Amino acid sequence: MTLAHLGNRVVAVDTDEARVTMLRNGRVPFFEPGLQEMLSEEVAARRVRFATDFAEVLADAVVAFLCMGTPPRATGDVNLRALETSARPVARHVRGRVIVVEKSTVPAGTAIGLRSLLKKEGQQAQFEVVSNPEFLREGSAVNDDLHPPRILIGAEPEYAFEVMRRLYGSLVAAGASLIETDIVTAELAKHATNAFLALKISFINGVARVCERLGAEVRDVADLMGSDPRIGRAFLDAGLGFGGSCFHKDLLAFHSLAMRAGYEFPLLLEVLRLNDEAVDSVLSTIEEALWSVSGKTVALLGLAFKPETDDIRFSPALRLAERLLDAGADVVGHDPRATENARAALGGLRTNDDVYTACEGAHCLVLCTEWEEFRSLELGRLAGIVADPILVDGRNFLNAAELRRAGFSYYPVGAKREADS
Ligand code: UGA
Repeated sequence: MTLAHLGNRVVAVDTDEARVTMLRNGRVPFFEPGLQEMLSEEVAARRVRFATDFAEVLADAVVAFLCMGTPPRATGDVNLRALETSARPVARHVRGRVIVVEKSTVPAGTAIGLRSLLKKEGQQAQFEVVSNPEFLREGSAVNDDLHPPRILIGAEPEYAFEVMRRLYGSLVAAGASLIETDIVTAELAKHATNAFLALKISFINGVARVCERLGAEVRDVADLMGSDPRIGRAFLDAGLGFGGSCFHKDLLAFHSLAMRAGYEFPLLLEVLRLNDEAVDSVLSTIEEALWSVSGKTVALLGLAFKPETDDIRFSPALRLAERLLDAGADVVGHDPRATENARAALGGLRTNDDVYTACEGAHCLVLCTEWEEFRSLELGRLAGIVADPILVDGRNFLNAAELRRAGFSYYPVGAKREADS
């Protein structure tokens, strides 16, 4: 959509007819702030259209972006089947000199296989493979895409760089830096970046465990660490840990890639272990506050893996819900956008579209996703409707003093426990 917004003529092609019809009708199939408005604008301006016929779309394409999902296999390796399936029609239907862009997150070295597949299948065209990894975040995707700090292009011939420079010209003019490198470096940089961001989160969650034992505040420690420009404050928020479709699969894929290249990189698996431990730790806090969770009602505030999305993939909130259900708790959840998706994903989880009704009669409230609207909850009203005024803040997001004034026992992450104070 951003490419259309920048003035390019974009055709998006997919085999999923229902999805294409929905987009043709100007409707985005998921929630992402600003995307619906952008789609309506671009469809009206005829800068973007949606199709299912590869042959018709690809005949005069100059650049073909491969944007399909790259899910993990059971081994942790990336499943490149969708990429291969989409590359074939590209090879068959394009003409002339065409740039084929890996937009999906793929293991380093994928371009080599992609280039030989294109060559083998496509006789009428000359292919240049480019790696142009994506760094946008769900929940702020439109803004990230329109104002990227950097755009990474991995390519070989000057022609490929030239086309990509033209494509992103206005973003560069507006201040984005365009970084040009070789293909394998660009591919690797994407996995390394996601792995490092996940590492930062797991590191601070490990620090949180130490803070809990020694009575320090992890938020203060994170602020102090982050004030060192060599570290930076971003991605040092302790809590329930990371979810979403990227970090988990990318850590496994990167680990697997390293192994296949002959290097053991166990730190990457430790990042995942610490992330699981973050959920376990919040569960222990709930157990500590309630003595036993069996037969108690626990209300989860937030079910999406992060705010401003309805995506529940690998959501720490749902992992916690599963653990609570296993322990015999009655679990009810509310999310401003993801309630429906969560209900469909996790049998046994009760949900409610109204946050106050969800909290009614609960023995413990757990803040799982830091939606801005949770800051303006009427705490007096909440205190009056719950069975026990206990709040476990899985994201260190709410105001402790206000909650305590309203009569709640407040349990943050990575701080001295309420019971110890
Ligand atoms: C991530 C990267 O940030 C993007 O740069 C990348 O393009 C994307 O993956 C991808 O590969 O497609 P995303 O997963 O959408 O983006 O969201 P993030 O903002 O990175 O958050 C991921 C998870 O980490 C969330 O569950 C969030 O709650 C958690 N998180 C984030 C923390 O627990 N602590 C933090 O300090 C920051």
